[in-house]
Amino acid sequence: MPRGVFITLEGLDGSGKTTQIKRLAAWLTRRGQEPVLLRQPGSTATGDRIREILLTSHSVAIAPMAEMALMFADRAQAIAEVIQPALDAGRIVVCDRFTDSTEAYQGGGRELGSKVVLDMHRLICGGLQPDLTLLLLPGFAASLNRARRRNDRVEAETGSSEGRFESEKDAFFRRAWEKYREIAAREPDRVVLIEGDLSIDEVHEQIVEAVSERIVTSPKSA
Ligand code: TYD
Repeated sequence: MPRGVFITLEGLDGSGKTTQIKRLAAWLTRRGQEPVLLRQPGSTATGDRIREILLTSHSVAIAPMAEMALMFADRAQAIAEVIQPALDAGRIVVCDRFTDSTEAYQGGGRELGSKVVLDMHRLICGGLQPDLTLLLLPGFAASLNRARRRNDRVEAETGSSEGRFESEKDAFFRRAWEKYREIAAREPDRVVLIEGDLSIDEVHEQIVEAVSERIVTSPKSA
């Protein structure tokens, strides 16, 4: 059985990943390649409990190293329970965030640095790397506006701020944004950077182009 294809989507909060994942999933399904979808943190029973600790504990200070370790605990569970079995079965897996998020948010945002994150990735995730990472990253000002707008919307709808990350300071998002760009520059073969102020349709077109060029038509996924 050929190994499946592992695709991840990355970007700051409010970057439109969720919409794009839905459209990509529909596009793949129309081509007879219904993907396995998941998001991090979450998507397993254990991961959902970890997600609750990570995203709903505004008042509790989680130490940055503990936060990073929880992200990897969630990831280890998702790999064992969902990602690896699906890849072994030859499926396309589309994951909303993966280790690049940890490098950007904990490594960059929380200033733990890349090394500790990449060391943890090697230890916990073994050799598992996405075949393709779609990084949705408009300019910093636009990215920040979107993150703030989304937070305001959620606050208006639910009466409370959604989570710890969206209430972070601008400097935190600036560091995460810069770290994402650093990752894209370091790994151009894996990471496709989708930047600029594009419409939903334009982003979808770029995603489809990257997926069809680099993955779906490759011999590995044939
Ligand atoms: P979520 O509501 O899923 O946001 P989004 O739809 O933008 O992905 O919340 C996930 C949050 O967790 C998001 O703010 C990014 C953060 N995060 C990290 O800080 N490190 C990580 O390793 C991961 C996977 C997520």
